[in-house]
Amino acid sequence: MDFVQFVISLQSSTGRNDMSRTVRVGIIGAGGIARWAHIPGYQAQPDVELAAICDVAPGKAAQVAKECNIAHAYDSMSEMLKKEKLDAVSVCTPNASHHEATLAALAAGCHVLCEKPIAMNLAEGREMVAAAHAAGKTLQIGLQSRFESETQVLKRFVEAGELGEIYYAEATYMRRRGIPGWGVFTQKKFQGGGALIDIGVHTLDQTLWLMGNPRPVAVMGATWEAFGHRPEVVSEGQHWDASKFDVDDMGVGLVRFANGAMLYLRASWAANIEKSYGEQKLLGTLGGASKSPLKIYTERHGALVDITPTGLPEVKAHFKEIEHFVACVRGETACMVVPEQVLDVQAILDAIYESSRSGHEVRLDTPDDKA
Ligand SMILES: NC(=O)c1ccc[n+]([C@@H]2O[C@H](COP(=O)([O-])OP(=O)(O)OC[C@H]3O[C@@H](n4cnc5c(N)ncnc54)[C@H](O)[C@@H]3O)[C@@H](O)[C@H]2O)c1
Repeated sequence: MDFVQFVISLQSSTGRNDMSRTVRVGIIGAGGIARWAHIPGYQAQPDVELAAICDVAPGKAAQVAKECNIAHAYDSMSEMLKKEKLDAVSVCTPNASHHEATLAALAAGCHVLCEKPIAMNLAEGREMVAAAHAAGKTLQIGLQSRFESETQVLKRFVEAGELGEIYYAEATYMRRRGIPGWGVFTQKKFQGGGALIDIGVHTLDQTLWLMGNPRPVAVMGATWEAFGHRPEVVSEGQHWDASKFDVDDMGVGLVRFANGAMLYLRASWAANIEKSYGEQKLLGTLGGASKSPLKIYTERHGALVDITPTGLPEVKAHFKEIEHFVACVRGETACMVVPEQVLDVQAILDAIYESSRSGHEVRLDTPDDKA
């Protein structure tokens, strides 16, 4: 039995994956990402009933439920999980409550789509993944970049061996000015970190996945807080509260893998650069690639050749991730966002923060590496 069959059989054995039945979903946290991604994403799915929503801010869930036509609203997560017979939930709260909400939802018998990053740190993430395995439920993390058309196409090129051995990669998500002015993104006690954990997580996860998720063994990195505490800094949107800002507005990391490959990661909410951009680059022995936009650089018949895939479908990546999650809940497929891969992402982010504090390289190797 391969891994995919094993996961599907594990899910079917829980008895709550009757494919003919409507999937009942609830949402924990009625803020921005719930409003513009999860609620419309579930409501676009056939045979899915978005039945309930909760939020700790009194009355907020009720207001969102009314606006979005959701039948039941709660001010308490535990009450929602107790009263509603849900098959699945989305966790759309700040990072500090991903761990608690995910464990509570798994204990209530739900599959979980938890927003990124998986948690505040690796220790919390490991407990969540272990709990999901113990419960025999899907735990998918909201790393929607994997579902973008260009990422999917590039993954197919990589898996077909067209790039050969990938030995170097760059993962970049740089904003010139884009410190979030809403929510609690700029406070460490709620989010665990700033630009690195918030947007670095997307480009890092996507690039690692494209590389085939080699095993990280060592990390060197640094983070800075160069803009966030300064109220005079120009904002392109709603200004954040500079007096409460205590996270990084830029992070950089260099990651070494067990197979000898290296990855260079950069993420900023604010930086003095010409313009904001996001980019992933892969260098392999037979070909290289960059996105976005997607281009593949290789050789054919003794000539250098650039390949530009065209006519790719425009997809809403958040909707695609929700469609995939629902298919996992139904037991139709194994989760493409493999939780152990997400733990490696979190381990690297934690290590960059630690390296920045200590000024030293952080080893992630297991006893096997030292043997
Ligand atoms: N995947 C993406 O592209 C993406 C984009 C934005 C945000 N996010 C992630 O989504 C999460 C939420 O971000 P947001 O922008 O929606 O924030 P937000 O501040 O707009 O909304 C969060 C909501 O959660 C509620 N909440 C807080 N603690 C709660 C708890 N214990 N139980 C129930 N509700 C609780 C808050 O009252 C608030 O309404 C974060 O983890 C963030 O990293 C992901």
